[in-house]
Amino acid sequence: MQHQRVLILDFGGQYNQLIARRVRELNVFCDLLPSDMSLKKIKEYNPIGIIFTGGPNSVYDADSPKIDRGVFELGIPVLGICYGCQLMAYTLGGEVQRASTSEYGKAEVTYSSSRLTVDMPANAVCWMSHTDRITRLPEGFKMLAKSQNCPYAAFGDEERKLYGVQFHPEVNHTFKGTVILKNFLYNICGAVGDWTMSNFVSNQIEALKNKIGDKKVLCAMSGGVDSAVAATLIHKAVGDQLTCVFVDHGLLRKYEADEVMSVFKDGLGMNLIKADDGAIFLERLKGVSDPETKRKIIGEQFIRSFEKQAKAIGKVDFLVQGTIYPDVIESGKGKSAVIKSHHNVGGLPSVVDFKEIIEPLRDLFKDEVRKVGFELGLPKNVVMRQPFPGPGLAIRIMGEVTEEKLETLRDSDYILRDEIAKAGLDDKIWQYFTVITNSKTVGVQGDFRTYENVIAIRAVTSVDAMTADWARIPYDVLEKISTRIVNEVKHANRIVYDITSKPPATIEWE
Ligand code: XMP
Repeated sequence: MQHQRVLILDFGGQYNQLIARRVRELNVFCDLLPSDMSLKKIKEYNPIGIIFTGGPNSVYDADSPKIDRGVFELGIPVLGICYGCQLMAYTLGGEVQRASTSEYGKAEVTYSSSRLTVDMPANAVCWMSHTDRITRLPEGFKMLAKSQNCPYAAFGDEERKLYGVQFHPEVNHTFKGTVILKNFLYNICGAVGDWTMSNFVSNQIEALKNKIGDKKVLCAMSGGVDSAVAATLIHKAVGDQLTCVFVDHGLLRKYEADEVMSVFKDGLGMNLIKADDGAIFLERLKGVSDPETKRKIIGEQFIRSFEKQAKAIGKVDFLVQGTIYPDVIESGKGKSAVIKSHHNVGGLPSVVDFKEIIEPLRDLFKDEVRKVGFELGLPKNVVMRQPFPGPGLAIRIMGEVTEEKLETLRDSDYILRDEIAKAGLDDKIWQYFTVITNSKTVGVQGDFRTYENVIAIRAVTSVDAMTADWARIPYDVLEKISTRIVNEVKHANRIVYDITSKPPATIEWE
């Protein structure tokens, strides 16, 4: 069944993915696509509505992105946000002025009644982030909201269903901002709300059944949310035709490998092969302390371990990849400096004999993947699993990785997670773990001098891991964690708390 679709044209603003997530949360499917999409392609996409995002440009810049005027003549409703609304006004003959000062942050707006502003209060706070402003509306438009600095904070041509908002309805700081988006989608575009995760699951299982038929599928299971949800969807569709390979590199957290086996093999009855290669990884990591070298060794050995299993399975028709929508959006964008060489399953296709890749989650944002996971009945510890780096605990041990240090790290990390959960903070902190620093200090335990590892606690809040702030864990919780680690864990006698944000630090220590 084809669902309704909204097209979001990306003009490069910082909140663009957030707009798309908000639209999806309102149960309407949308795609975020480059703003230079041709009019022909826009028509072919057949959206029920179009949203222009914000962007860093001024409509007067010579190389600023423009829009084909024809888009306003398709009879499809358009909502322009920030730069998007200036572009709409400018293209249709209104006037946009360069202001000498920018307006960033909260502003009070007064709304007038319209289909876009139904259920909005007369006055409310919104989030502004712009320099240029509209000073004259194109013909046929009327003002729908104003602020002190913005005579046209929102405007629209109700007949042609063209609307613009200077502020950002997608951010939480805009009071009832989602109501504006909802009004656009439901009152103006005629959305019916057919994008739900239960629909997605049933449609996707049907589609996978048709696509796969009686053929063979192979999936690399990491224990992470994406591969777990992708594999479960495929398992529901084709059962035993799916084989999953789980490479246990021995660098997982306490009980993690057993949990994967118990949920997917024992619980769901999946055809899951575990490659127990911890000893090989540890051997190859002997004497290695450089972070990048560690990452490269682990990434390379991971592929070798997977390859060995794949060879034993033989030719398959499909290889599953846990690609999700942000990866699709990001790929194709410019290259940035390599801070750390990331390890993921992207290198696998070259070592597997297969015909085609399937990516059952490529349309979904992370929060949607999690909802699908719950729909499929996966347990909370799998669905809400924190991000975990491919190279695992190896990059949380500064210096050489040894079995002894791994044990200290696993035990301390387990206590940290246990206490964070007991304090009810597990849903509030984005990622938290312990690190074995490369230093030892003197301590005293039971009248004896000790000379043991300094363990660091790293805990951050973040939205997308691009930036992060250190989490303000209450002192009494930190105290419990610290006391338990030094008392219960071997080879640890001092605990420190990492209070650095990203940037300038990164989330992981290596
Ligand atoms: P950094 O340390 O770069 O981490 O601030 C950002 C996020 O990415 C995770 N991370 C990885 N994830 N493969 C992954 O799939 C990797 O090699 C890798 N290295 C870091 C990290 O845990 C954090 O969530």
